[in-house]
Amino acid sequence: MEESLYIHGSDPIEQDRLSRLNDWLNQSCLAALNLDSRVHRVLDVGSGLGQFTRAMAGVLPDDAFVLGIERDARQLEKARNLAAGDPATQKLEFRQGLAEQLPLSDPEWGSFDLAHTRFVLEHVRRPEVVVRQMAAAVKPGGSVVLLDDDHANFRLWPEPPGFAILWEAYLRSYERLGNDPLVGRRLVSLLQQQGLVHIEPKLIFFGGSAGQSIFPVVAENILGILMGSREWMVSEGLITAGLFEDCIRLLDDWRKLPDATLWYGLNYAEGRKPQ
Ligand SMILES: C[S@@+](CC[C@H](N)C(=O)[O-])C[C@H]1O[C@@H](n2cnc3c(N)ncnc32)[C@H](O)[C@@H]1O
Repeated sequence: MEESLYIHGSDPIEQDRLSRLNDWLNQSCLAALNLDSRVHRVLDVGSGLGQFTRAMAGVLPDDAFVLGIERDARQLEKARNLAAGDPATQKLEFRQGLAEQLPLSDPEWGSFDLAHTRFVLEHVRRPEVVVRQMAAAVKPGGSVVLLDDDHANFRLWPEPPGFAILWEAYLRSYERLGNDPLVGRRLVSLLQQQGLVHIEPKLIFFGGSAGQSIFPVVAENILGILMGSREWMVSEGLITAGLFEDCIRLLDDWRKLPDATLWYGLNYAEGRKPQ
């Protein structure tokens, strides 16, 4: 199988960004999931640093099992280090593998109560293959939960000059990799195509404004994803290095405004496997 490329990579700066994003979003994602005591076996596909995998384990019963699947060895190593000493560790396993070819044993297929993935479908060429694997991993009556970006919904206000150009180049950089930066709008379709039923979409607020304690994290995250993709955007001719630097400088000015605001929502959809 042709492997998809993960645009953000896994160097320490990027791991730091991903970690802060987890600190910011995990409580609202956990609230949206609303896990109840009937959930015992959870699969987290593309588990990254494992912070959300652990957060799910933390609210589940002692005999629960949460399995994180991650392709990148550096992310796995960091996830295992971060999990060390957490009481939830006894319910956790991190396993190396691909979302498109889940490394499950025969008895594990069809055994999970919930299969979850967040910020992964935007980084794969064939999200439908991942969702098919997730549907096969859950038992009848089990849930598949998809959370992902629709980057066209992203709105900064007051809009920094040049931001539209920069953001468009960022979106195009996903497409050059064969990935879909708008996959969030397709989540219901992806579930429906794999035969899931009782599908419910939601939006999780994923923004903030100057003056909120979270705002520096919000602003750093935007700068972080753009800076991390700079080489790829410039080498692909999507933006010149000079224009990139100008736009980043104006974005840096924007974050110092007293009314700087990011309006954004994380798309969420949940479906059930028929009994
Ligand atoms: C943006 S991070 C999100 C991590 C985690 N789900 C979270 O929400 O914090 C995406 C992760 O998916 C992993 N990934 C990307 N493509 C993958 C694939 N095809 N199979 C397994 N993991 C993949 C990346 O290595 C990265 O750790």
